[in-house]
This record gives sequence, C-alpha cells and structure tokens, in this order.
Amino acid sequence: MSSTDFTVAGQSVLVTGGRGGIGSAIANAFVSAGARVVAVDVSPVPESPRVGIEDVVADVREPSSILKAASKFGSLDTIVQCAGRAAPGEEFDPAVFREIVDIHLVGSFNVAVTLKPLMAESGGSIINVGSMYSYFGSPLVPGYGAAKAGIVQLTKTLALAWAGDGIRVNAVAPGWIRTELTRLVEEDPTLNAAITSRLPSGNFSEPEDIAGTVLYLASGASRLVTGVTIPVDGGYSAS
Ligand SMILES: NC(=O)c1ccc[n+]([C@@H]2O[C@H](COP(=O)([O-])OP(=O)(O)OC[C@H]3O[C@@H](n4cnc5c(N)ncnc54)[C@H](O)[C@@H]3O)[C@@H](O)[C@H]2O)c1
Repeated sequence: MSSTDFTVAGQSVLVTGGRGGIGSAIANAFVSAGARVVAVDVSPVPESPRVGIEDVVADVREPSSILKAASKFGSLDTIVQCAGRAAPGEEFDPAVFREIVDIHLVGSFNVAVTLKPLMAESGGSIINVGSMYSYFGSPLVPGYGAAKAGIVQLTKTLALAWAGDGIRVNAVAPGWIRTELTRLVEEDPTLNAAITSRLPSGNFSEPEDIAGTVLYLASGASRLVTGVTIPVDGGYSAS
C-alpha cells in the first residue's frame, strides 16, 4: 500500500452499529468505494436488502455473535465501531451508567480483541468512534462521556500493542451529526442554540460527513497514522 493510495476497493469491512445514522453512511461509502461490508447491529435487519451490505443482528456486548457475523468473510481488513446509545438524564443510575460503558467502551475493546485473529494476516485498520465528549464534560451523560474519553486511551493502547501485527488503530470524534442519537438535542431549542452557537458552520452536519475520514483511515494513504483520534467536528473543538 502506498502512502498516496486512497483506495479501499476489495476490502472486507465490518461496521458495528451499521444500521444507525453514522454507521449506515459509512457502510454505504465503503460499498460505493468497492468494499464488501457486513453491518452488525441490535436493530432488525431491513426488509429490503441493502445493496452491497450483508446485514446481521448482533450485539457488541456479545462478541461471539460479532465473530459469527465476521466469519462470513475469510479475513477482515477494516473494523469500524459505530454501535452506541446515550441515555441523557438516566446515566446517574449506576446500572444505566454500566450499560452505556459496556456498549461503547467494553464493547469496542471486546469486538477488537475478538476479531483481531481475523485481521492478523492482512494487518488492517480498526477505527473507533469517540465524541466531543471524549474531550468535554456533559452534565447529562456521565456514562457516555466516560466511555468516549476511554475510547481515546483505548485507541492509543491498542495501536501500540498491535503495531507489531501490522494493525493500525485510530478513532474519529464526530461533532454534532444529525441522527437518532442527537434528534432530541437538536429539537430542544435551548440545547440546539447552545451547540450551534459554538459551531463555525452554525449547523448540525450529516452522517455522510464522517465517512471520508473513516475511509482515509482504512486506506494505505494513512499507513503512518495510528493511535490518534481525529475530530471531525466542523471546528467545534477549536472554539
Ligand atoms: N450523532 C452524533 O452527533 C455523534 C457524535 C459523536 C459520536 N457519535 C457516535 O457515533 C456512533 C453512531 O451514532 P449515531 O449518531 O449514528 O447513532 P444512531 O442511534 O443512529 O446509531 C447507533 C446504532 O448503534 C446500534 N446499537 C446500539 N447498541 C448496540 C449494541 N449493543 N450492539 C450493536 N449495535 C448497537 C443502534 O441500534 C443504532 O443502529 C455512536 O458511537 C455515537 O456515540 C455520534
């Protein structure tokens, strides 16, 4: 792979949370670029098959179900970890806090460790998903914020641990993207104003805006990039 090779054509890619807003956009972008995609998600498989995407029901808290889904490919080139949910206002309940951390942080770790043997031969790229709450506090989502901060550190640690296997581990930290996860925040006039007043674009962005950076991190063009979390946030974290 050359450092000017931006192609992901021919790759086998597994996307967790692959039927959500950002996961779907990333899955579609990989398919458009010539990759094969397995999308795993706890939500039901769509009635009409999605072109180029194999949809499977699996839970990142049960990595054996993810391994079964991944086994549809002989080996994996790229894993993108988009599974997640937040529970604003409920995460001070220790059980909910634990559930949220389980999905985002423990889930990302377990999926990476479970699927690593499938990646060992081809090397490959793991792309985790952080958040602006990897960096900034939020009074409403202590579990989500703790998990997303942990993902930055997990990304560094796995990158160091697996560099010798030729596996790169990076993350993207999306800004404010229009999906089901942010729908209530966007619809709340007070929260919306607090967020958009800090956004240089002045607007929430679309899930497709995250895909280009993810494809770059999966391509040879990023072959020297590992252990980093790239904000894809329209300048939110710069302000
Ligand atoms: N939307 C944003 O502005 C934003 C910002 C920063 C980070 N993120 C992160 O991006 C990722 C995708 O979020 P989104 O905005 O597309 O939300 P979304 O709700 O549209 O998608 C999340 C998907 O994850 C799936 N999921 C939930 N729990 C799961 C589990 N245990 N196993 C497998 N799948 C599971 C859901 O069914 C859903 O399809 C999440 O990690 C989220 O924290 C989103």
